[in-house]
Amino acid sequence: MAETTGITIRRPDDWHLHLRDGDMLRAVLPFTARQFARAIVMPNLAPPVTTAAAAEAYRQRIADALPPGASFTPLMTCYLTDDADADEIVDGHAAGIFTAVKLYPAGATTNSANGVTDMDNVLGVLERIQEAGIPLLVHGETTDPDVDIFHREAVFIDRTLAPLLERFPGLKVVFEHITTSDAVDFVLAAGDTLAATVTAHHLMINRNALFEGGLNPHMYCLPVAKREPHRLALRKAVVSGVAKFFLGTDSAPHALSAKEAACGCAGIFSAPSAVEHYAQVFDEEGALDQFEAFASLNGPMFYGLAANDETITLKKTGGSVPGDVSVEGGVAVKPFLAGQPLTWALVD
Ligand code: DOR
Ligand code: ZN
Repeated sequence: MAETTGITIRRPDDWHLHLRDGDMLRAVLPFTARQFARAIVMPNLAPPVTTAAAAEAYRQRIADALPPGASFTPLMTCYLTDDADADEIVDGHAAGIFTAVKLYPAGATTNSANGVTDMDNVLGVLERIQEAGIPLLVHGETTDPDVDIFHREAVFIDRTLAPLLERFPGLKVVFEHITTSDAVDFVLAAGDTLAATVTAHHLMINRNALFEGGLNPHMYCLPVAKREPHRLALRKAVVSGVAKFFLGTDSAPHALSAKEAACGCAGIFSAPSAVEHYAQVFDEEGALDQFEAFASLNGPMFYGLAANDETITLKKTGGSVPGDVSVEGGVAVKPFLAGQPLTWALVD
């Protein structure tokens, strides 16, 4: 069979993205808007986005930061806290401001201190979210410090996610940025109310990348990359054609100085070449025919939205990931695999 050298698919969406704010937002947003029509924007700002008014103001700042002529729609989320107000969430959703609600177990990751400390504190709110058909997006890691960091996702499934789905059988849940074969198996076995996003980096690296030739802070994110068999299970899942898996980069920029530090922040800034990275994975798996479903169809279907009408074209002409991106104020941020060769290029 002749090698595929080009592919045109419906324009994709990024179902999990950190855009930050201010100068960082202005620096990183053009990369996402170049590739994606829409993105689910994470609410873990400081302070977190917990009200419809805050989300509306943030949406406006994102719109103001778009390059001229860009067509990109941010889909806003509400950060769930122990004392969340169900009316605020349900009304904000009805008003078209909130697309989804984000659950961070308190302390699980960056800016999650205001997250949920005990699921019992939000049962009433979850009841209302279920009733209103609002998707709950879950950072699926236990915060129990006694649990090994590489097992936190698997333990979260047993202790929190499985009981959650049992208690709320109608709740639409996205298990975000899954990293393990345990998660893949769980999603496959669950009903249609559960879906999962998969990042490009978790499809491309295993945990060795963190330590190759020395400590590599730019390969550190949460959930942390796992062993090779887990990466292979993720690759198998995304090319399987199962509609429960869709694209979510979890691109999470941090200033270079905050990454290359004694206590470096978690987050991989994959936005600059995200769609090219995913295309490479599907190509390597001999599954380019499944790429459009994963990148552009499964996500909208789960969220009850229409797929995008426009298309994008990628060609196997090669290219390279940009080097450090500068941010106003003298800060820089390093892309995932900065400066390294790409096999695919987004040409149109
Ligand atoms: O690596 C991560 N970075 N994981 C998260 O869950 C949050 C994100 C961030 O906001 O930096
Ligand atoms: Zn994230």
